[in-house]
Amino acid sequence: MRLETGLWGLALPSLAATRSILTAASFEEKCLQFRPEASAGARVTLSDNDPSCGTNSQAVTADLCRVALSIPTSNRSSITYEMWLPEEWSGVAYEDLAYGTANGFATVGTNNGHNGTNGDTFYQNDDIVADFGWRSLHTSVVVGKKLTALFYGAAASKSYFICCSLGGRQGIHSAEVFPDDFDGIVAGAPAVDFNNLYSSRARYFTITGAADAQSFIAADTWQTTIHDEVLKQCDGIDGAMDGVIEDPTLCKFQPEALLCGAKKGGEDCLTGAQVQTVNKVFSDYLWPNGSLLLPGMQPGSEIAASGGLYNGKAYGPSVGWFKFAVLENPSWDPATFTTDDALIAGQKDPGGIRTWPSSLAAFEGRGGKILTHHGQQDQQITSFNSIRFYEHLAGGMGYAPEQMDHFYRFFRIPGMGHCGSGPGAWVIGQAGSSAVQGIPFDREHNVLAAVVDWVEKGVAPEALVGTKFVNDTVGAGIAYQHTHCKYPAKSIFKGGDHDPSEVGSWECV
Ligand SMILES: *[C@@H]1O[C@H](CO)[C@@H](O)[C@H](O)[C@H]1NC(C)=O
Ligand SMILES: *[C@@H]1O[C@H](CO)[C@@H](O)[C@H](O)[C@H]1NC(C)=O
Ligand SMILES: *[C@@H]1O[C@H](CO)[C@@H](O)[C@H](O)[C@H]1NC(C)=O
Ligand SMILES: *[C@@H]1O[C@H](CO)[C@@H](O)[C@H](O)[C@H]1NC(C)=O
Repeated sequence: MRLETGLWGLALPSLAATRSILTAASFEEKCLQFRPEASAGARVTLSDNDPSCGTNSQAVTADLCRVALSIPTSNRSSITYEMWLPEEWSGVAYEDLAYGTANGFATVGTNNGHNGTNGDTFYQNDDIVADFGWRSLHTSVVVGKKLTALFYGAAASKSYFICCSLGGRQGIHSAEVFPDDFDGIVAGAPAVDFNNLYSSRARYFTITGAADAQSFIAADTWQTTIHDEVLKQCDGIDGAMDGVIEDPTLCKFQPEALLCGAKKGGEDCLTGAQVQTVNKVFSDYLWPNGSLLLPGMQPGSEIAASGGLYNGKAYGPSVGWFKFAVLENPSWDPATFTTDDALIAGQKDPGGIRTWPSSLAAFEGRGGKILTHHGQQDQQITSFNSIRFYEHLAGGMGYAPEQMDHFYRFFRIPGMGHCGSGPGAWVIGQAGSSAVQGIPFDREHNVLAAVVDWVEKGVAPEALVGTKFVNDTVGAGIAYQHTHCKYPAKSIFKGGDHDPSEVGSWECV
């Protein structure tokens, strides 16, 4: 992989324009130089955003200056770039623009070099794949720091990244390859070991089969029959029957308990073929020689994955990735997926996307901090992969957990799905959720505030207090809060007369 600055023919404002920005008297005048589009309380219309992204407008809560650019990264690729600059400024942050600007960060976000989730533009265009793999984020950091200096007349003192999933992977990759880009990184459910992860996602369709296959399980059965049995077998392991499994690594789920025997499978029992489906989904995915390709899904994922990875349809983003970036065969049939395809993906490693560093010494060495978190019933990326990555990194650096604590802390969030939602106390200040407005912006409750204090005050987060709102609606009030422990500790219920919905009823052990 060739690493170079991602700037390809970028024209920043001319010297004269720069001078007029710097000498403009007010925030408003400075912003006018950049052609503003929003002020507090407005909704910004995102008419260019691809419909598959599901976002066509965004509410904003602070006065801000919105800058939108198209930045070429080669003669056949470009990124769509946005920077939102608040009037009250404290530094440069990244991703989830409304959230960042509301808390006083100059904030940037991009489309990662392509629009939507289909992947067809990857086809025979390594530059667009490279944008997706690494160049888009790095380019936007370089441009963001330049624009910030231009707009405020002072360089950013610190720079932060917050994102989840594919974005979580970008955060880890940035720490590995561009250790100077960020001072603090919040990487949620990071899609690390990306090629194997996408292979495992492609595999679920071959396990479940289509909706008419013997092996297929209907969403209802996953959500009621199977989920109820998961809770019956595993919810009490942590000492409290509260609908949340604190540590799914301890749950060795036995779906055989649901076997109907000679009866036909229905609402309340499973056929032999369906029991096998459940066992495969929750078992580690292995190469033919028996070594690990990716850990299995964690029990608890069935509620949400019944409508996603286990729904009897080939998973769209994996199909696009294999067709256009890995195999370069637009007519590839996802039903034919095997470990042979997984092997090709790993060997080709399009755009250098794998993201599986065994050391982050350069980032650690300059004082960088990473806070990572993962929902313990994630329906998209098994949370066991974040444990595996922690152990891989610690092993590679020769570190015990206390030594990892200097720069890398991992929080398991029980009862949280992929980056958010679920029955657990999942609101922790992650990007992408309006519920963050219901919690204080402090290091105890909010991951972004936690990483900022860690970087700027040297106060590292020991635990996080997550919040569950009634109906996941801030206005309906807080249902309960829960302490999420720093890995490898786990939360244990104190038992006796304690109420499991009280923060003080649990301890990190
Ligand atoms: C695009 O750039 C590449 C080298 O980066 C060059 O080989 C190619 O000819 C260029 N194509 C066009 C259409 O300019
Ligand atoms: C994405 O959309 C933007 C704005 O509509 C466009 O300029 C850009 O070319 C598109 N990118 C790709 C890879 O199609
Ligand atoms: C098993 O196969 C995988 C994929 O080819 C390879 O990466 C791995 O090193 C092999 N493991 C052993 C123990 O040979
Ligand atoms: C929760 O939401 C559902 C619909 O989504 C509604 O019927 C119910 O009244 C709400 N409950 C509360 C306590 O707000």
